[in-house]
Amino acid sequence: MEKDSAGMNQAAHQFRCPRCGNIGEYSGKAGERLIVTCDSCKTKGRVTIPGIAEPPSTNGNAIEITHLRKLFKDFPAVDDVSFYVKKGEIFGLLGPNGAGKSTIIRMLCTLTRPTAGVATVAGYDIVKQSGKVRTHIGLVSEKMIMYEQLTARENLKLFGKLYNLPNDFLNKRIDELLAFVRMEKWADHRINTFSTGMKQRINVIRALVNQPEILFLDEPTLGLDPQSTAEIRELTKRINTENGTTIILTTHIMFEAEALCKRMGIIDHGKIVALDTPANLKKLVSGTDVSTFEIEVSNLEPRMMTSVQSLGSVKSLIQEDSNHLLVRTTGNDAFDDIVDSLRKNGAKVRMVKNLEPSLEDVFLHLTGREAREKVTENTPSSSVGPGHGPGRRRPKRIR
Ligand SMILES: Nc1ncnc2c1ncn2[C@@H]1O[C@H](COP(=O)(O)OP(=O)(O)OP(=O)(O)O)[C@@H](O)[C@H]1O
Ligand SMILES: [Mg+2]
Repeated sequence: MEKDSAGMNQAAHQFRCPRCGNIGEYSGKAGERLIVTCDSCKTKGRVTIPGIAEPPSTNGNAIEITHLRKLFKDFPAVDDVSFYVKKGEIFGLLGPNGAGKSTIIRMLCTLTRPTAGVATVAGYDIVKQSGKVRTHIGLVSEKMIMYEQLTARENLKLFGKLYNLPNDFLNKRIDELLAFVRMEKWADHRINTFSTGMKQRINVIRALVNQPEILFLDEPTLGLDPQSTAEIRELTKRINTENGTTIILTTHIMFEAEALCKRMGIIDHGKIVALDTPANLKKLVSGTDVSTFEIEVSNLEPRMMTSVQSLGSVKSLIQEDSNHLLVRTTGNDAFDDIVDSLRKNGAKVRMVKNLEPSLEDVFLHLTGREAREKVTENTPSSSVGPGHGPGRRRPKRIR
């Protein structure tokens, strides 16, 4: 049996003419419909090639992207991007606002066509086989797609119907999915009575109705409170481990990316600027003179922070609470400069700790977006401080 370029089975099949009984041979792809002509009496007939089309070969990759570009007029929103995502992995796409994350996702989900380049999703070409791609994917986009006046079950049924799923299968699938997110008892309640976190749980399982091999999550925790964020994070993990679903996740939350993703690509101005495991990405910073110091000052005052912030070696300063500062620096003299500056301003320095580089350090190092926080008088800014070290403080959303 031969295979064509799309990986479909090519085989010779026999056709018995219903009029004269002559047996002819024809070839085609499994599942393909053909119109054939009897060699003897020239009668035309329709036949469907038996068998199911084999999925194309994918080299163990769920997604392969080669030199993908998307121009909006002259503006390159995605600029020569190439990477692959292995089957069964959670892959992160990180980048500042407008970096091109959603445009990549939209191209892979066949919602917008690339200007140039090639990509396959589940082995299918995103342009030439867009219909096939769609049957293998689920998408949770930045905007929640739900009908507020319908119940959870009605919403799920509606989306299942778009995939032409038979009723029996669909009803069973919906029950399974509702149980998966512990929402069975809310099945027949309207979406507009749900909290944002509950809506997002339904929104995520909506994207799973067709049992996709690959799930795209474009900022799935945006706008959720910490409890719901944790729930969606756990759900993402379970979808991956229990169903083996490949997941592409975009997020601004470094902690989230680190907790979930095996590998991640950092994208800026439409280009991938780094792609590796979180551990290897951190090595990019640890080999440089970029450091982050946590400093405890028992009598911390705004003028002390202003003087530290004005030092050339200081890249950013965040006040964590009434006694603690986080200071990102470059250069080997930074430590001495900071301590000198604080002492000159009468600071009682209790402790200085050099923190391990975080993913956020890598992100800022690569994208060069120094989110310099303004030191506001007596206002602890812990809620917007970057997350250095696991679980130490709330992760920052880089915008
Ligand atoms: N339909 C469009 N028409 C014109 N420009 C667009 C369009 N969609 C996106 N862009 C531009 O392309 C760039 C990339 O946008 P994209 O939405 O992919 O970024 P993003 O990384 O997802 O950002 P965010 O973090 O804000 O979601 C932006 O500059 C955006 O303004
Ligand atoms: Mg986006």
